[in-house]
Amino acid sequence: MQLVEAAPAKLNLALHVRARRADGYHELETLFVFTRDGDEVRIGAADMDRFTISGPFTGDLDPAADNLVTRARDQFRAAVAPVPPIAIELVKRLPVASGIGGGSADAAATLRALARLVDVPAHDNRLIEVAGRLGSDVPACLLGRATVGRGRGELLAEIAGLPGQPVLLVNPGVAVSTARVFAEWDGVDRGGVGDGALLDIARAGRNDLQAPACALAPVIAEVLAELQALLGVKLVRMSGSGATCFALFDDTAACTAGAAEMRTRHPGWWCLETVLT
Ligand code: C5P
Repeated sequence: MQLVEAAPAKLNLALHVRARRADGYHELETLFVFTRDGDEVRIGAADMDRFTISGPFTGDLDPAADNLVTRARDQFRAAVAPVPPIAIELVKRLPVASGIGGGSADAAATLRALARLVDVPAHDNRLIEVAGRLGSDVPACLLGRATVGRGRGELLAEIAGLPGQPVLLVNPGVAVSTARVFAEWDGVDRGGVGDGALLDIARAGRNDLQAPACALAPVIAEVLAELQALLGVKLVRMSGSGATCFALFDDTAACTAGAAEMRTRHPGWWCLETVLT
């Protein structure tokens, strides 16, 4: 028996920070979308619980340390349903601490896989509650569809997505702390996301964490400028608290050409050419 569950990368097409909250979080309005590619969670039967990591970013995570996959497994058992001993393999293809939800997507994929394993419906409220406790982005990742996120990101309203939209993700190899980037936000409420079609409201929007992230890691501004200079881009922005930035392209050919140019200029930067789902 092996269950394979995709853990797609999450992008914030826009991320508007509205207010600091008394609980230490920030009130947000954000546009979540997901990509075809990402990490993967594989679950198999075992004599005792095991957790292993494979894939290109294996070295950036310690399987023995506290992580969102084993926390998702443990909280599923505590709050949703009993699960027999299992071996979980996390295939880590997304850079860690990079604003594209890697850890959140992995936690959500673990919840979805366990729900399949023990026949819990995907829309079960207990799953959504566990997701919210695991992290602000985990409910959006659990749903895995284009949504407007409010509150700390967990209050979700579905919106028509942009399936097939070519996108290039670029990360310059610096990990930034989400908590630090939020702490550097200037406190100015620049307004919420508007109404309308996703691409229109994304383009009219912004990522309020871009300026504080660039101040902490100036190479992010370089990534944004280089993406903006590529031919055929229609939206360039940082995702989440960074450092990953993305460009939406007019078509696949422009995206492929842009990816090739970025890889030639910056062989050390991580690039992923994919599409939105
Ligand atoms: O919810 P999560 O654990 O993913 O959040 C990580 C950190 O990001 C929080 O500890 C907090 O500092 C910051 N954060 C925030 N406001 C949000 C989401 C996250 O301040 N809406």
